Amino acid sequence: MLTIAVPKGRIFEEALPLLARAGIVPDESPSATRKLIIGTSMPDLRIVVVRASDVPTYVQYGAADLGVTGADTLMEHGGAGLYQPVDLAIGQCRLCVAAPAGFDYRDAVRRGARLRVATKYVETARGFFARKGVHVDLIKLYGSMELAPLAGLADAIVDLVSSGATLKANGLVEVEEIVAISSRLVVNQTSFKTRRERLAPLVATIRDAVAQAQSMNGVTHA
Ligand code: PRP
Repeated sequence: MLTIAVPKGRIFEEALPLLARAGIVPDESPSATRKLIIGTSMPDLRIVVVRASDVPTYVQYGAADLGVTGADTLMEHGGAGLYQPVDLAIGQCRLCVAAPAGFDYRDAVRRGARLRVATKYVETARGFFARKGVHVDLIKLYGSMELAPLAGLADAIVDLVSSGATLKANGLVEVEEIVAISSRLVVNQTSFKTRRERLAPLVATIRDAVAQAQSMNGVTHA
C-alpha cells in the first residue's frame, strides 16, 4: 500500500484535478467526511489528510510515501529526507514582507533599526533577514498575521500573499517579495529507493498530468 499525505482545503481542491488526471480519485471528498484516511480508485494507494505544516513530517518519517505541500512549508521544514521531484504549479502565491502603509520600512532598514516581525515562517524569515543584514526580532504566530502590526505586536509581517485582498483590507502593503511559492510533490527518499518500481512511474504520471494541465492552460516550460 502506498500513502500520499495531502492537506485539507485549498491545496487539496487544486490537487484533485491533477490526481484525477493521474488516475487517482478519492473514494470520498475530504471536505465531506471526517475520516482522515481515504481510499482511492487506485487499489494500492490511500490518502491521509493532514495539517499543511505536517505534510513534510509525515513524508520525512515514512508515515506517508508521498505528499503534496507548499514550498513555504517545505522551506520552513528544511526538506530533510525528502525528494521534491515535481513542481505541481498549484497553490501559487508569494511569500512577502508586509507592513502598515504608513510605516517607512525601507528607511527603517537603511537606518539599521531593529524591526519586530511577526510570522508563521520563523526559520525562513530568519534566513532572509540575516542574508540582508537586517536586524529583526521574530515573533512566532500561527495565523492572522495581518493583525500583528495593527495590534502593536510587530512592525511588519512575513506571510503569504495571493490576491493581496487580506493585506488591503487591513491597511498593509507588500514591501518586499521573498520568494514565489507553489505546491510541490514530495517523496520519502528511502521509499523512493526501496519502492522505486512502484513510485517512479507514479511520479512520472503526476509529472505528465501537470504538463498536460499546463498545456491546456497555455503555459509551456522549456
Ligand atoms: C493566507 C495568508 C493570508 C491570505 C492571503 O491565509 O496567510 O492571510 O491567505 O491571501 P490573499 O492575498 O488572497 O488575501 P489562509 O487563508 O491560507 O489561512 P491561514 O491564516 O490559516 O494561513
